Amino acid sequence: MSYADLPRLPCYLNGDYTVLPEAKVSVMDRGFIFGDGVYEVIPAYGSCLFRFEQHMARLERSLAELRIPNPHTRAQWHEIAARLMAAYAKDSGAPDPEKVDQMVYLQVTRGVALREHAMLPGLTPTVFAMTNLMKQPTTAQRAQGVACVTADDFRWQKAHIKSTSLLGGVMARQISVDAGADETILFRDGWLSEAAASNVWIVKGGVLLGPPRDHLVLEGIRYALLEEICQVQGIPMALRRISRAEVLAADEVLLSSSTKEVLPVTRIDGEAVGDGQPGTVYDLLYAGYQAAKLQARLRRPPL
Ligand SMILES: Cc1ncc(COP(=O)(O)O)c(C=O)c1O
Repeated sequence: MSYADLPRLPCYLNGDYTVLPEAKVSVMDRGFIFGDGVYEVIPAYGSCLFRFEQHMARLERSLAELRIPNPHTRAQWHEIAARLMAAYAKDSGAPDPEKVDQMVYLQVTRGVALREHAMLPGLTPTVFAMTNLMKQPTTAQRAQGVACVTADDFRWQKAHIKSTSLLGGVMARQISVDAGADETILFRDGWLSEAAASNVWIVKGGVLLGPPRDHLVLEGIRYALLEEICQVQGIPMALRRISRAEVLAADEVLLSSSTKEVLPVTRIDGEAVGDGQPGTVYDLLYAGYQAAKLQARLRRPPL
């Protein structure tokens, strides 16, 4: 696909609102040369950015880790996202823009400089943002669950940074594509870390278990959200190291991410998980998730 063939989706680049085929950055941008940047993907239901403050907090943490100054306040980021969402909803021709669910993508790179590995100070960060229709799991995936494969976690040891350097994630995801599966569940030294682009949870004896918040996983915004839902739904929950054997013997396995929300995994490496059907804890978490989305729309700040 060339520049000109890109869909004319609304985007933002360094202060300008434009469309994808018109947005261009320097070949010396450190995002292009080194993958030296961070990003966020924020789900928006109707025009309500879901868990916006939490996504901002993670963006701030990722930028701080890489010593890239945050070019915008939270209010400015909100304004950029809101303008893009409004443009998208208008272009979509949907009768009710409130019904258009979108994924807002924000990216900051260190900026443009001659090639030099060191974190050159004083550069002007490159800011890019775009939005697109949210691609949600299908009804069949929700009803039957999805298939995953497993692989060694060969990614780097700073998975907690939401970095645009995603080659490890790209290669991990391709393992499942090649196998005709939906995601790749990763194990580091035999311990569950996460999946190529999602967090992984297991259920055993009615308890939801997830890997600890540490540098080996990207702490999804759904970590805290699932903790809240578990409290409301009365589901016991713990974060601790989880062995490969525990994953394979789990009653239920779930994925979570902005787009997947929570999604049941019913096959791993060709074997059934539990009874091979989405389980009760999944049903409760999914219901709690939908309630949280509705509550967020009630409480949302004005755009
Ligand atoms: C590696 C990885 N882990 C976990 C997640 C889930 O994060 P979130 O729930 O914030 O979407 C993602 C999301 O894209 C991811 O890429």
